[in-house]
Amino acid sequence: MSKPLVAIVMGSANDWDIMQQAARQLQDFGVAYDARVISAHRSPDLLFDYIKDMTAQGVQCFIAGAGGAAHLAGVIAGKTTLPVLGVPMPSKYLKGMDSLLSIVQMPKGIPVATFAIGEAGAANAGLFVVSMLALQNALLEQKLADYRKQQVEAIAATTLSAPN
Ligand code: RP5
Repeated sequence: MSKPLVAIVMGSANDWDIMQQAARQLQDFGVAYDARVISAHRSPDLLFDYIKDMTAQGVQCFIAGAGGAAHLAGVIAGKTTLPVLGVPMPSKYLKGMDSLLSIVQMPKGIPVATFAIGEAGAANAGLFVVSMLALQNALLEQKLADYRKQQVEAIAATTLSAPN
């Protein structure tokens, strides 16, 4: 197993349904990752240890998914200068608006790159990491170009007709 380049953290095992979309993208592009459930408020000491451990292992960035009063990404960003990508989880009562605002509204000085609520955000966070890594990796750059080309081809091949 190669050393992880990306650490995916989520506040609850219940977030995995969504966050596995980020993992899926990384897997598809052959990018090694480590994925964990670690809560910023339920297990803060574990989180700090994990950030230290992953940084020592050489990860290039963190993807953090959390819901509700979602401070996970912000706390990670406060402990590392590596890029932190935040994915808001859809929450039961506020449909993820709470998660989105908690993650996106970081005060000046400690940035978190924030993605869309839910599956699209998780998948795009994975793809964004691939873009970042592709800056220094020609093979990944080519795979990304191919992936985009497939999307163009799928659109071009779509024809519509009204039902009878
Ligand atoms: C956050 O609280 C998690 O990220 C999750 O989205 C939300 C609810 O957690 P559970 O009560 O489902 O474990 O920490």
